[in-house]
Amino acid sequence: MKRILITSAIPYVAGVKHLGNLVGSMLPADIFARYCRSRGYDTLAICATDEHGAPVELAALEEGMPVAEYAAKWHAVQKALGDRFSLSWDNFGRSSSAQNHELTLHFARALWKNGLLELRTTKQAYSATDGRFLPDRYVIGTCPHCGYDRARGDQCENCTRVLDAVDLIHPRSAVSGAQDIEIRDATHLFLKQSQFADRLRAWIDSHKTDWPPLVTSIAYKWLDEGLHDRGITRDLEWGIPVPDDIAGGALKGKVFYVWFDAPIEYIAATKEWADKNGKGDAWKDWWFGDAAKDVTYWEFMGKDNVPFHTIIFPAMEMGTGEPWHLVDRLKGFNYLNYDGGKFSTSGKRGIFMDKALDVAPADYWRYYLIANAPESSDSNFTWEQFAGIINKDLADVLGNFVNRVTKFCVARFDGVVPGEGDYGEDEQALVAEMDRRVAAYAEFMENAEFRKAMGEMRAIWVAGNEYMTRAAPWTHIKTDRARAAVGVRMGLNLIHQFAHLLWPVMPDFAKTIHECIQPVGYRGGVIPFPGAPMLELLNDLTPGQPIKAPEVLVAKISEDQIAEWKAQFGGGAA
Ligand code: 2FM
Ligand code: ZN
Repeated sequence: MKRILITSAIPYVAGVKHLGNLVGSMLPADIFARYCRSRGYDTLAICATDEHGAPVELAALEEGMPVAEYAAKWHAVQKALGDRFSLSWDNFGRSSSAQNHELTLHFARALWKNGLLELRTTKQAYSATDGRFLPDRYVIGTCPHCGYDRARGDQCENCTRVLDAVDLIHPRSAVSGAQDIEIRDATHLFLKQSQFADRLRAWIDSHKTDWPPLVTSIAYKWLDEGLHDRGITRDLEWGIPVPDDIAGGALKGKVFYVWFDAPIEYIAATKEWADKNGKGDAWKDWWFGDAAKDVTYWEFMGKDNVPFHTIIFPAMEMGTGEPWHLVDRLKGFNYLNYDGGKFSTSGKRGIFMDKALDVAPADYWRYYLIANAPESSDSNFTWEQFAGIINKDLADVLGNFVNRVTKFCVARFDGVVPGEGDYGEDEQALVAEMDRRVAAYAEFMENAEFRKAMGEMRAIWVAGNEYMTRAAPWTHIKTDRARAAVGVRMGLNLIHQFAHLLWPVMPDFAKTIHECIQPVGYRGGVIPFPGAPMLELLNDLTPGQPIKAPEVLVAKISEDQIAEWKAQFGGGAA
């Protein structure tokens, strides 16, 4: 049996995430996990909140709350929103967990023992106005590479390059705006990344064909620019403290950099899962040594996270000298923009997960977002496009198909699957097309090529609709009941298979449809991928079994609603 480990980049704990965060990691990871489960693969899907770092400490300060309490509160909010979006993680962990403290120390000690960490005196930004050393995220200035004037001291979100706060041009404090930034000496621990260059290059070369070009191009850009050693400690109180046995106590009062412990949380959240479920050491079978050899490990993330997952985290894993399982398939996403500008958490611009659910059910968002996922380039959200896709794909094509077939069956065949008549040429042709398209859909899903997979799914719905228009049972019922029955029976069987195919993407919708076609027996949970030959599947329903017609499946979005939402959420270029 295939074993699939899935992680999505762990969202920062502070605040509610926007739809750009959702489509870049958590949603595709969930759709992929559901697809794998529907195929019967042994699947483990892991996510967590990323709880350390300066921004979290500061946000807690602003809310006037102890930071541990603040993190717990927002973790709970994010978990609840994830549930409402049907994100079916096996564990949604916390990077502040005891398990992560323990594993992070394990990694750090192994790297220290292997001579891959080094104590260095560095220059660090200090603001007298603020009375503190500023962790690099807290220095803002102009990017020395691309000239973007709001680059943060750790990374430029415009050109994705990782930065050092001292390299910024016209630096200022993000806390107070103060420009009295002085550069003082500070001692920190560094990961000797430069020593991994050859191993990393060989490893990345080995993935040239199975990682998307977006991912390999970012990884090579990093390698080609030369790997710099990286500071992995910070002057903060909240985080995982550096223990005295590393560097002989020289780093008292410092914690590990959030990007050091965050990827380790993938492993720690797996351990949390094992601990919560009384599974002992089962977490190791997903991550460590021979037991994890048959695992295919998939990571999902936005492009700004790619360097950390192709360079830094793999270097950390390699550097332990222990057989940690490196990522096999890495799915990176471009950005989703909001009406021509950036989604922005700090600028409160765009649509956030909580507000999105006031507007439309989770399944609408899931479908819209994945069908337009920014896979090969950035994509752009507009309300018109959102409404257009819901109204066309979901209401006109899918919803209408389900409605007209089930309603007609209830009206003219007593709401039971009709048994009369035999499938003829037209049905055979449809079976052949479905065979082809379902195979293509599966192939795309296996490779997490979501836009293409959704294209096939749409084509499958369209083929069903076109068949039904040709079969026209509403016409034949007057003269040839058996012929009408054939169309209705095929239509009901199609609806049934649609439910199986769409479960990974629209689980609630799939459940509703499935319950209409098989009102008895289905109790939720996984709806398996259609397994048998197509002809059998499209003959699967037992004549005489009852079906139900659903209430309105998909309500269309009106012009008025679009106008209202635009006013409510704002829009126009940033
Ligand atoms: O960019 C982010 O939202 C980060 N919190 C992702 C961290 S992924 C990881 F754990 F490495
Ligand atoms: Zn830049």
